[in-house]
Amino acid sequence: MARDSVHGSLPTATLGETLAVVGNVFVPNIAKGVIIRRPMAVGVVEKLGLDKRSIRRLQKLNEKYGPGPLMLNTPKSKPMALVLDPDHANRVLNETPEPFATAEWAKQKALEHFEPDMALVSHGPERAERRRFNEEVLQSGCPVHGLGARFAQVVEQEASELLTFVERHHGKLDWSMFEATWNRVVRRVVLGDTARDDRALTEMLEKLRSAGNWAFLHPGHDRLQDAFHERLRTYLKRGEAGSLAAEIARASTNANTQPEHQVPQYLFAFDPAGMTTFRALALLAAHPNQTERAQVEITEHDLERAPKLDFLRACVLESLRLWPTTPLVLRQTTEETEWENGTMPAETSVLLLAPYFHRDDRYLDDANLFDPDLWLQPGEVGNWPMIPFSGGSGICPGRHVVLLVTSLMLARLLQGREYRLEPPTRLLSSKPMPPLLNNYDLAFKVTGR
Ligand code: HEM
Repeated sequence: MARDSVHGSLPTATLGETLAVVGNVFVPNIAKGVIIRRPMAVGVVEKLGLDKRSIRRLQKLNEKYGPGPLMLNTPKSKPMALVLDPDHANRVLNETPEPFATAEWAKQKALEHFEPDMALVSHGPERAERRRFNEEVLQSGCPVHGLGARFAQVVEQEASELLTFVERHHGKLDWSMFEATWNRVVRRVVLGDTARDDRALTEMLEKLRSAGNWAFLHPGHDRLQDAFHERLRTYLKRGEAGSLAAEIARASTNANTQPEHQVPQYLFAFDPAGMTTFRALALLAAHPNQTERAQVEITEHDLERAPKLDFLRACVLESLRLWPTTPLVLRQTTEETEWENGTMPAETSVLLLAPYFHRDDRYLDDANLFDPDLWLQPGEVGNWPMIPFSGGSGICPGRHVVLLVTSLMLARLLQGREYRLEPPTRLLSSKPMPPLLNNYDLAFKVTGR
């Protein structure tokens, strides 16, 4: 179907509106750090409420242009479209990777600093093989991974060490204490107990991720990347029992698989899972009635058996809905695509801003409240795109492992204890949840129940 305006007849934002999207959406997200967060910038974005402006900006465009998709006024060589309609979001996610490829240009430039052959930035047969491998290792169809009981043991050991430390520090728990514990859990779950104290590996990856934040603007750390992959290979060869490395050693591979380019994603993506857990703890501390539900769930289950803790998982999902750690979901069209309003050119970067959908107060009654029931009765929001883990065939294959480990961590921290936010006014159940919650300066006073 030939159409004759700038981009077929899809509406196109003016230059001023495009610059406003850059200022309200791209700048704050790039400043916070797309691949690794910059704590100072997170603090500034929280204080200025910039994430709310990004949602408002897209709402205004939606009110002016209708469902879109809305082409931005970018150079012809880099077409870019905003998805403004829930059905369009579902279409893009469901029709991944053809014609909406996960291997989007900006993402490729960011990830090539440490995992250039990762599934997310691959296409065709290579992507298919890497996706298959990740689904197999992470058992993406199972709510509880086969190694769940072992992961539960790791969480129990590390949480109990953390809580002893907290007691020695007059009941104070802050981000730096939690982060050290979380990183140990992550290294043990992904690579095995011998990696528990390999902080150097985490630091190497952090440096590579920092370069990833700058995408094509950073020349890269080639030698460091080689050294990091070499160190990772040692763990993968060892394939320690009880860790994902053992699953990797067992999984079938071929020349396309490139396991050592998939595993950095496991390590790196567990990082936002830690932030999410800490924010979920803050949500619970601020909502005593929901904490009571969590405590009931904890007493009803044997945590050693890695139960599926539905309520705590819903709290983690709420933390991710309110403050998604992957706010920008990007796709790139592999061919021209047809929409009700016109044609989108091939090689367009298609942007889904998760908070725009997650916090749409025009349609969702509880958009800005902490409402775990949203996930316990998913029928309530119908097909509305709730996409903290993306969706469709590109959905995060690690989501169940994440929900398992984070809910078990919350259960162990909450068991027999009470948490008060310091200061207690940081979040209030009587007020809308803030556009961003800076995890780096969260602190709790922990007491026995
Ligand atoms: C809070 C934690 C996490 C969140 C919010 C999250 C979210 C996401 C999202 C949104 C994507 C799709 C990105 C896109 O399409 O551009 C993705 C992809 C992926 N995630 Fe996660 N993730 C998390 C943790 C993990 C963990 C811990 C693992 C592994 C242990 C993992 C493994 C993967 C893999 C392998 C992909 C690539 C999938 C593909 O393209 O085939 N994720 N994740």
